[in-house]
Amino acid sequence: MKGIILAGGKGTRLYPITTSVSKQLLPIYDKPMIYYPISILLFAGIKDILIISTPEDIRQYEELLGDGKKLGINFSYKIQEKPKGLAEAFILGEDFIGNDSVCLVLGDNVFYGANLPGILKKVSKNKAKATIFGYPVANPKEFGVVEFDNEGNVLSIEEKPAKPKSKYAIPGLYFFNNEVIEIAKNVKPSARGELEITSVIEEYLKQNELKVERLSRGIAWLDTGSPYNMLKAGMFVETVQSRQGVYVACLEEICWRQGFINSEQLKEIGMNLKQTDYGKYILSLLEEE
Ligand code: G1P
Repeated sequence: MKGIILAGGKGTRLYPITTSVSKQLLPIYDKPMIYYPISILLFAGIKDILIISTPEDIRQYEELLGDGKKLGINFSYKIQEKPKGLAEAFILGEDFIGNDSVCLVLGDNVFYGANLPGILKKVSKNKAKATIFGYPVANPKEFGVVEFDNEGNVLSIEEKPAKPKSKYAIPGLYFFNNEVIEIAKNVKPSARGELEITSVIEEYLKQNELKVERLSRGIAWLDTGSPYNMLKAGMFVETVQSRQGVYVACLEEICWRQGFINSEQLKEIGMNLKQTDYGKYILSLLEEE
């Protein structure tokens, strides 16, 4: 399975912060925002990751993440010329995806929860053609929304509905089989001129091939859509880290625990960062051994 992270867009809702900086590079406490969705792909066992961003910003992602070799994984990069919608990721990523299935995570989506790695492993191995998630929120209007019947079957999918039919938002984390490339190519632009991810999901629903996993209350899906919510997400990460002494989305740690790099490699990274708390944390992991 391949992984795609979409880190495009203009981040207009965060101006002036994002006037000259890509939203997904902004910090959530002590890491760039994009680290969090990358951690999700790593937990799913995905080692080949395509980062898609704007012509102006793509270089900064390359500088931040490189080719991934240090982490035992592969990062590649692709430009999205215009913000034409999330579904365009599958068209831009066609060659990268090849004959594989694919997981798309939006670069501004932050998840955290003890059973999340287990859920991700399970979903990445299941045979469903499409798996999305449902997460109850107070403000469903601002998201894609999924409606269920009493038996839990999906009735409808709507993008930012004025009158949401349920409180279940669809987080920016999607698993699709290879057919998604063709489906995305056939999606018609919405009223706002974008290839909507919800149109792709609706197509799988029409074919009766859509699986929706409801995320339980033990899992946090944090909003980063406004300065206030970004601050709250940062405080959440800080609280977990300082209280439990474990880092959220420390990519080096995850790659080491997944066996993508060995202890020698982890030590080298830690030594290079040893003047920071982040580096000290990495080195402390080796003492566990
Ligand atoms: C996008 C999707 C929406 C989804 C949301 C999750 O909206 O279009 O369906 O619920 O991401 O973050 P955006 O935040 O790009 O407006």
